[in-house]
This record gives sequence, structure tokens and C-alpha cells, in this order.
Amino acid sequence: MPNNKDVAILILAAGKGTRLKSSLAKVLHCAGGRALVEHVVRSCAGAGAKKTIVVVGHQAEKVEEVVSPLGVESVLQQPQNGTGHALLVSKRAIGNAKYVVVLPGDAPLIRTETVKALIRKHKNGQAAATLLTAVLADPSGYGRILRKGGDAVQAIIEESQLAPEQRELNEINASMYCFTTGKLWPALAKVKPENKHREIYLTDAISVLNAAGETVLAEVAQDSREMLGCNTRADLAGVDRTFRDWKREELMRDGVTIQLPETVMVDPDVEVGEDTILEPCVQLLGKTKIGARSVIKASSVIYESVLGDEVTVEPHCVISQSRLDSDVVVGPFARMRMETHLKSGSRIGNFVELKKSVVGEGTKAMHLAYLGDAKIGNKTNIGAGTITCNYDGFTKNPTTIGNKVFIGSDTALIAPVKVGDGAYVGAGSTITDNVPADALGIARGRQVNKPGWASKKRRELAVAQKPAKRNKQRRSN
Ligand code: UD1
Ligand code: MG
Repeated sequence: MPNNKDVAILILAAGKGTRLKSSLAKVLHCAGGRALVEHVVRSCAGAGAKKTIVVVGHQAEKVEEVVSPLGVESVLQQPQNGTGHALLVSKRAIGNAKYVVVLPGDAPLIRTETVKALIRKHKNGQAAATLLTAVLADPSGYGRILRKGGDAVQAIIEESQLAPEQRELNEINASMYCFTTGKLWPALAKVKPENKHREIYLTDAISVLNAAGETVLAEVAQDSREMLGCNTRADLAGVDRTFRDWKREELMRDGVTIQLPETVMVDPDVEVGEDTILEPCVQLLGKTKIGARSVIKASSVIYESVLGDEVTVEPHCVISQSRLDSDVVVGPFARMRMETHLKSGSRIGNFVELKKSVVGEGTKAMHLAYLGDAKIGNKTNIGAGTITCNYDGFTKNPTTIGNKVFIGSDTALIAPVKVGDGAYVGAGSTITDNVPADALGIARGRQVNKPGWASKKRRELAVAQKPAKRNKQRRSN
């Protein structure tokens, strides 16, 4: 890690984000599977700075809830009188750091390497301020860089204050700066809130520094996407797309096959093993982990789950907070809810739902079943239409099924209930009492066959219909 112990990083996250038209503070909106500000904080973690400070204001408590677990300090800016004001209220927290890096909390694509490069450039250039910029085809919404020539900057001009001839400027201010604090504070003291919003703009400090003959440098970022801020919903969607692209590229580099990659959505903390195949429209969310040589087929959604090696998820499955050991096959159209554990070699078929259930090795539930709060042993067969009636209207009750059990189709197991090892349950049973090991449990009305009943019924119906037929014939004569 570089020695940046003379640097404090300040993340500006106090603004409301009026242009998003939202009741949620802007920096808490998500892109790429995380809140915007969380991305920024994480990118700072590896920069080797003395400390990272987040300026909070609008929905301060909620923002703090997101950032404080990441080990950063926060400073309250109340009211929010502009980006320059945000720095002024943070002066004490920045303390005696020789340099301060300023990053906006709404530009989440910034990478650690880029933060480090900014600090390096600033230190090497012995500047009062160094900024990162991007040249964009559509620079609208951003402040623009007015260059003096070479690396030097004269001023940053906010979009609303652009003179007609400056509208052509397409180098934007990313709001990412490194300042030498000894030069910044006197400059900021001279900035007046002389704009439509009566705010103290940090951008104005640049022209003050320049007028004082200080060096202000700017570097065009290598990847302009890292500079993009999120002021509108369209910006959020664009940034989210970039995060998803990057994550898929990372997985493919690590040996994962992704078909129609642009349709596959993977959250940042997801891990996938070599030679696993992700088919189109798959979503892997939260801290999901998938082993090697598995296949996740079309349109399956997997959230906070751990899958082993050589697992097959057939199309259209929804798997949440569950564990599937190696060599398990599920779906199509299967649903696994929290705390479900499918042990190695088990098979879950179409339209089967599981919740808080353990399914033993080699056990099968192939069609149309609900297994909730159930513990099922090894090599057991759960027939089509089996339901664990786990809820009695007051509490959830467990069902325990042993090894090598055969549960006939359309069985209702009224929990709490146990079926012992090797037992059979007759199809269509409503099981209210435990079934001992190796026994047959059968609980249904006995079948009665009435010989000749059907033919007799047909004759009776034919006689009853005859007069009507004769009348019909008469009418047609
Ligand atoms: C700012 C820059 C603009 C730049 C753009 C890059 C200023 C005056 N303008 O404009 O030159 O092109 O960023 O995205 O700086 N914030 C606070 N306290 C405040 C105001 C804002 O913490 O009082 C935070 C916001 O939460 C946000 C960041 O600062 O995370 C930037 O604020 P925003 O309102 O988005 O500024 P822009 O208009 O985008
Ligand atoms: Mg912005």
C-alpha cells in the first residue's frame, strides 16, 4: 500500500439529489448492487489514506447506517450550503492532514487505482489542487474545465454559468480533487455564495487559487466512465450497466461461461467457480457463491445462496438463502426459500417449493410439492403433490421423514409428525399420527366397487331422455 498517511479523504454525501425525484437521499440509491456511497467508500479503502470522512446531511442517519460499518468517520453538514461549505464543516475532522482528496458520493464507478493515481499526480506536481476530468460527448449537467494550456487549469465553470462561447467545452469536472490543505483553506475563505442557489461552491476555489498564482493541475481520467455522477434515474441506469459489465468481465476472465452476457445480472460479492455456465437472463444476487462445473439455466434467480460443484439449476428457478450441495439438480420452476439445504445428489423437480427444509442425499421430490420445516433423510422418495401442513394457524410445526421412505402421491402430512426409516405412506393419505419405521401408513376412505353400476346408470339415463327425442322427431316431421 502506498504511504498516503498524510492524506485525508472526504466523501461528499450530504445532498438531497432533487433531480432524482425521490424520497430517498441520492447517495443511498443503488447501482451495481450497492448504495452509491458504499461503492465510493470501498474504493477509498485501499488508497492508504490516514482516514476517510463522509459528509452526511440529508437523511444523515440512514447514510451513516450504510457507511459506519465500513469503518469511516462522518461529519454532519446541516444545512447543506454547497460543496465548498461541506469542506468548511469538515475542517476539524480533516485536521492536520497535508492533503485532502475530495470525492462526490454520487459517482460510484471510481476505482482505488484512480484515487491513488490522483494523489500521486498531485504530490509529484507539487500543486495546490489537482483534479480529475473526463472528455464527454455529452457534457450536459456537469461543470466544465477552462484550461490555461497544458496540464494547467484556469477555472471550473458550472453549467448554469457558462457563457455562450463556453457551451462547446466538453471537458467536465468530475468533482474529484486533491488539495494541499494549506492552500485550500485560505482560498475557500474567499469564496462567496454568489450563485442562484446561494451556495458555497468548491469549484470557485479553483479560480481563487489560480488568481493567487497557485498551480492547479488536471488529468483526464483513462476511463471516463469512472467520472460519471448520478443526478438522474437515467444516470443511475447507465452506471448500473457499467458495474454489471465489469462484474461479468471479471467472471469470464476467471473461467465462467456467460451466454448473452448483457442479459445476465451479477451482484459484486458473487463468486462463481471455473467452467460454470450461466445461461441468458440469470440473476445472481447478494453473497451468492457457486462452485465449479455447475449450470444455471435460463431465467433463474439465486439470492444469498451457496451452491456446490456440478449443480444443475434448470430454467426458471428461484433460490433464496439456501444451500445446494454438489451434484444436486433442481427445477425447472422450483423454489427454495430460506434455510433450505439440499444434500448431495438430491433432486427437486418442477413446481416444488421448499422452506427451512433439509433434503437428504439422493432424495427426490420431483413434482408439485410443498416441503416446509421438514427434515428428510437419504434416498427417500416424495411423491407428486405431497404437502407438509406445517402451519396450524398459530405456529409452524416440523415434519421429520427418515431414510429410504416412500411417500405416496398427494399425501398431506399434518405436522408435527414423523415418518420412520423405511416406511411407506399410501397415496392420498392425510397423515395425522407418526408412522413407525418399516410400517405402511394409510389414511384414506376405503374404495368400494359397485359391479354393473355404470351400465345400469347409462340405461336409466337413456330411458329418461327418450320421450324428449321422440318429441324432437315429431316436430321435424
Ligand atoms: C458538482 C460540481 C460540478 C461537477 C459535478 C460532478 C459543484 C458546485 N459542482 O455538481 O462541477 O461537474 O459535481 O458530478 O461542486 N453535497 C454535499 N453537500 C452539499 C452539496 C452537495 O455533501 O451542500 C454532495 C452531494 O451529496 C453529492 C456531491 O456533493 O454527492 C455533489 O453534489 P451535487 O449536487 O450532485 O453536485 P452537482 O450539481 O452534480
Ligand atoms: Mg452530482
